[in-house]
This record gives sequence, structure tokens and C-alpha cells, in this order.
Amino acid sequence: MSPVGRRIVVASNRGPVSFGREASGRVVTTRGAGGLVTAVSDGLAATGGLWIAAAMSEDDRSQAGRTIQVDAGGRGYQVRLLPFDPPDYEGYYDGISNRILWFLHHALWDVPRAPTFEGLAEAWQGYLTVNEAFARALEEEGRSPPGEAVYLVQDYHLALVPALLRERLPRAAIAHFSHIPFAGPTGLRILPQPIREALLAGMLGADVVGFQAPAWAENFLLGCRTLQGTRVDLRRRVVRWGGRVVRVRVHPISIDPAGLREEAAAEPAEAAARDILEWLGDRRLLVRVDRAELSKNILRGFLAYERFLEGNPEWLGRISFLALLNPSRQHLPEYRAYTQEAIELADRINSRVGRADWEPIRLSLMDDHPRALAAYRLYDVLLVNPVFDGMNLVAKEGPVLNERDGVLILSENAGASAELGRHAIAVNPFDVEATGRAIATALEMGPAERRRRARGLRSAVARNPIDAWVRAQVEDLERMGR
Ligand code: F6P
Repeated sequence: MSPVGRRIVVASNRGPVSFGREASGRVVTTRGAGGLVTAVSDGLAATGGLWIAAAMSEDDRSQAGRTIQVDAGGRGYQVRLLPFDPPDYEGYYDGISNRILWFLHHALWDVPRAPTFEGLAEAWQGYLTVNEAFARALEEEGRSPPGEAVYLVQDYHLALVPALLRERLPRAAIAHFSHIPFAGPTGLRILPQPIREALLAGMLGADVVGFQAPAWAENFLLGCRTLQGTRVDLRRRVVRWGGRVVRVRVHPISIDPAGLREEAAAEPAEAAARDILEWLGDRRLLVRVDRAELSKNILRGFLAYERFLEGNPEWLGRISFLALLNPSRQHLPEYRAYTQEAIELADRINSRVGRADWEPIRLSLMDDHPRALAAYRLYDVLLVNPVFDGMNLVAKEGPVLNERDGVLILSENAGASAELGRHAIAVNPFDVEATGRAIATALEMGPAERRRRARGLRSAVARNPIDAWVRAQVEDLERMGR
């Protein structure tokens, strides 16, 4: 049993470990990427429990069925991977989760052209099948002893699980948590009505529906008003639906500063820091660290830097931009095209203003965690400008490790801006010129102001300990008599 006194069962699409195979055939494990994995694994390491995730590849499927022990900071938790038929999984993961729900909730569609919903019925069938399989697996885990388990269901991939699990276990304690933004009612109307209603009703199967920031909770509540038969109390954040009361809560996810500092002090990050410093020389350093992902707004970030250099020629040759992009969903054409555009834009800027002794932007496209940690330590300015983002943990990790009183430029549309916004330079992520001006403001800020803001950022992160997130969700359920 966990220190919170209940057996915690987490369900998410991506788990904390994935499997691959070396040329020799040896199975190797890698750590999952993304905000959900970072935050939930740190949270669960503190409480213990079981994590059920999808087997996302052939090699993952070869490990399905066994219980994997993950040791984390002296404590640990178990992981079970669920295998699926590849066509079902593709409909669920790419068809619905990545290409519809991700685009909808981050407002990524070029609406005059997309979506067109080709192949929707088949993909939706896959989504149903996978959500049903998760609900079945959760029910099995919660059978003995009955009533003890607390189910923490994660993200848009598993929006139907709360209602499906509720049908099987009417008295179960269920929380659903979204790590991404939530579209408002106008955006939701892009979805065909039966799908929109199934998703909302699915989430409302939970006792508590959680979000990273107040704006997403509010959008969800407004969206629930479009579902016939609901009664929504916006102020108290309560939805009455099907004879039950569902509470909507905001629990911003956090990071583990001590663990992060330890990793940043280890040799791989030290070596990466030496390498960056050698490249940088005595220039100032602008950094971004992101998955190569459309919602992160990488293109406007590069354009803003170009505008900044045009408008402030005294900075030519005195600053370099390190963009560390971790490849993501590169099997999807939208992602490949976007990444390619980012590469071409960086090349264009380099060839336009670069010189033999100065590379204005270095774009690195690889999963290089030590280099990201080193860049966090060294930046003068950290650019976090997503179009929309559930939270954004880069905005928290960077300031915790930074050693130069670096300035954070933060999108108003990142969930993190609710906690960190007043210590950052806030930008409208669509406004390229304003973002360019923010880079200039950050570089010209005096040392006292930089120190004050850097301290403010660090203490805002420290105020929200990592294990508080899992505990808060369990307490929500207990307060409801679950
Ligand atoms: O943190 C938000 C999140 O959407 C997770 O749900 C997801 O695992 C992650 O970002 C990365 O996306 P993917 O798992 O599709 O690579």
C-alpha cells in the first residue's frame, strides 16, 4: 500500500519505459518522453503503485504480460503494458488521439482546409476498442481487495475509460486528468456530435476531472453545457450528470528539482555544457528545448529571432540560439513537414546573417537529455512560446537549473503562465514582432531585475512539490467519500 494509504493505479497511453532492440538482438529499455511521463513517474515514485500503459511497438508487445519493476529514488512502482492489434492501435493513437484530439485541443488545424475526417469511423472503432481494453485491465487490477484502488486515468487518449470503468465498477474512485489544453465549446463543435458527446460523457464517468490550469478547466465546464442533461455550476466547478456529481479541479503538475540537479551535475551533462561553451564563446545564449511538435510554435520562435536581429543589428554576432528539438511522432506527415520547415528556416537565417565565425542558430534534432540539462544551466534567455500548452515543464525545469539569472519568455497560452507568468516576460505566441521585442527586453534587462525574476521562478516551482500532485488527486476523491 502506498504512503497515501490507497492502492494507486495509473492508466496512460505512453508509459515510463519503452523497449527497443539492438542490432545484436538484445532488448534495451528507454525512458518515455513528454510532460505526462516526466510528471507522473516522479509523482508515482513518491507514492508507489501500478502503472498500466499501452505497448506502443513490436518490442513493447514482446514485454506485455509481465510486470516490470521501475526503481526510482529508492522507491519504486510497477508497470504493465497492454498489447493491441496494430490496426486498432493505429486508429486510436494516430487516427483519433494524435490527428484529431491533439489538433483540436491545441488549435492546430488550418480550419479552412482541415479536418476532413476521412477514415473517422474506422479510427473511432479503434479508439473504442483500446479504451475498452484499458477499462477491463483496470477492473481486473481493482478487484482485490474491492474498493481499495484509486484510479488515475490520464489524458485525451483515454477519455472514454472513466465511463467504461464506471459501468463495470459503479463505486470505483476514478479521476481523469488532462495534461493538455481543453478546447472551448466552439472548438468542440468541429467534432461530429456523437463523438463530441461520447468524449464528454466518457470523462464525466470520473468523480473528479482534472486539468493543469484554470483556463482548461473552464473550457471543459463550458463544453459540458453542450451535453444535454448536464447541469453545470461554473463558479463551484461542478457538473451534475446522470444522477452523479462530478468535480472539476486544477492541479498544476510539477517537477523534481533535487533529482534534476543531480542529473545536471553528472558527467554526461557536464560534458555537454563544455561542448556548448566551446561553441558559444563569449556570446549570450538563447535556448529552446521542445519536442519537435507543432504546438510548440518553433517556426514563429525562429521568425521572432530573425526579426530581433533585423531590428537590433548591434546584437549580430553577440548572441547564439540553441534549439534542442526532440523528434516526436515523425511517422505522421504533418510532423515531418513541420520539422523540415523548421530546419529550412534555421538554415535560411544562418545563411542570411551568419558569418564564418558565427552560427546564429544551431538546431539539434535528437533526444539528448544531458544537452538539454546543460542548456538549462547556461541560458541567458529561455524561449517557451507554445501556441497552446497544457502546462510546459521546460518553463519549470529551466529556471531550476539555470546559473546565470536567465530570463524566461513565456507564452500566455502555456498552462505554466498561471504559476510563473509574473516572473517571466509574457508573450502572445502568435505575435512574432512582440516575441522579437521580448528577446531584446530580456537581453537588456539589468542584473537586479534578472535576479529578482529568477528567484521568483525558482520559488514558484519549489512551492509545488512533485508528490503533491498525486496526493491532491487522491484527497479530492476521499473528500467526495470515495
Ligand atoms: O504531456 C502531454 C502528452 O500529450 C502526453 O500525453 C504524451 O505522452 C506526450 O505529451 C507526448 O506525446 P506522445 O506520447 O504521443 O509522443
